[in-house]
Amino acid sequence: MSRDPAYPVGLRLTGRRVVVLGGGTVAQRRLPALLAAGAEVTLVAPAATPSVEAMATAGELAWERRGYRAGDLAEAWYVLIATDDPAANAAASNEAEARRVWAVRSDDAAAATAWTPATGRSAGVTVAVLTGHDPRRSAGVRDAVVAGLRDGTLGGSPSGHRPAAGSRTGTVALVGGGPGDPDLITVRGRRLLAEADVVVADRLGPRELLDELAPHVEVIDAAKIPYGRAMAQERINAALVEHARAGRAVVRLKGGDPFVFGRGMEEARQLADAGVPVTVVPGITSAVSVPGAAGIPVTHRGVAHEFTVVSGHLAPGADGSLVDWEAVARLGGTLVLLMAVEHVEAIAHTLIGYGRAPGTPVSVVQEGTTAGERRVDTTLDSVAEVVRTEALRPPAVIVVGEVVTLGRG
Ligand SMILES: C[S@@+](CC[C@H](N)C(=O)[O-])C[C@H]1O[C@@H](n2cnc3c(N)ncnc32)[C@H](O)[C@@H]1O
Repeated sequence: MSRDPAYPVGLRLTGRRVVVLGGGTVAQRRLPALLAAGAEVTLVAPAATPSVEAMATAGELAWERRGYRAGDLAEAWYVLIATDDPAANAAASNEAEARRVWAVRSDDAAAATAWTPATGRSAGVTVAVLTGHDPRRSAGVRDAVVAGLRDGTLGGSPSGHRPAAGSRTGTVALVGGGPGDPDLITVRGRRLLAEADVVVADRLGPRELLDELAPHVEVIDAAKIPYGRAMAQERINAALVEHARAGRAVVRLKGGDPFVFGRGMEEARQLADAGVPVTVVPGITSAVSVPGAAGIPVTHRGVAHEFTVVSGHLAPGADGSLVDWEAVARLGGTLVLLMAVEHVEAIAHTLIGYGRAPGTPVSVVQEGTTAGERRVDTTLDSVAEVVRTEALRPPAVIVVGEVVTLGRG
């Protein structure tokens, strides 16, 4: 193999013919990026993996179900040679050389005229690493760079979160922080946090992430204590607008998902009305993740084909309640109750009154995904008593349904 380093280049493949020879796992790994780059891919292979076949069925590429034949590389700009027949690979290599088509070979890097770098993408940056002889090292360097871009420790602020040069208005990102475990925020959420000048945080969500913020980052505590708020919503909105107008990158960090009982749209609208650009970053909602992390699937084949998420912050029949408890009781699937600890007695009573079986399994998961997680299992007719005797308190997710018993030994 030549010791000369490869010359790095970014191929712009939109609308250009690319030929892939072989439909195995190499093709399966490389095809998504070729298709994402807009290449007009022709796959030549007698057989393909189910994933590659699905790309053909979906019309993403043209598949000729046969082995390589001389002439297949006519009009191609680029070829990936990855059949399991060394003679066919060598013949295709020769054709590529003769036609001056750049060719990658899965079986013989020395015979290739191009090498695939270890690639990754984050924050609008494509990372491509070539070490020549050491693909593991390439992948390791790539992983480190991509991780740095993702968590914001590398590469500045390309995400559009920062105000554009010359603009005096900052931006606000409404970021869903997940249920509490700091590892359960999204990659995008974590990166925006690392880029923030100001973070307005709730009591729920991944509070430990606040420790990682740089000292200059201003943290505003918008702590909402259940059934009473430490900081009025209007003041939160005003703070978001004020900091954004001062040209700062603001993250509004919320527990779970911003749009699941999170007032996300109220804040988004206020910001839009104030002319502040706002991005929404979805989060992992506690409604699914807290039961899941505690070993309870909200659906299970043959057991529950639906799950319903209901807020219990108002007791059944209370003024302003929008929940049709009779309909909820009739559903046989999984019921996930949020903010329901205070009214659990009235809720359980109402559900039983409308026909849900008193012995329906129930699990209360308090402070899910955090060091303080507790799971207590009971039944619908006993849940209120158990909440009292076990001194269960918010935040807790209450799961009602047969799924509760599935993970038990
Ligand atoms: C105002 S709601 C916000 C829900 C949030 N937006 C979400 O998608 O998870 C707060 C309720 O979510 C539930 N919750 C949030 N985080 C939780 C956790 N780590 N453990 C148990 N329940 C949690 C509790 O029912 C809590 O009262």
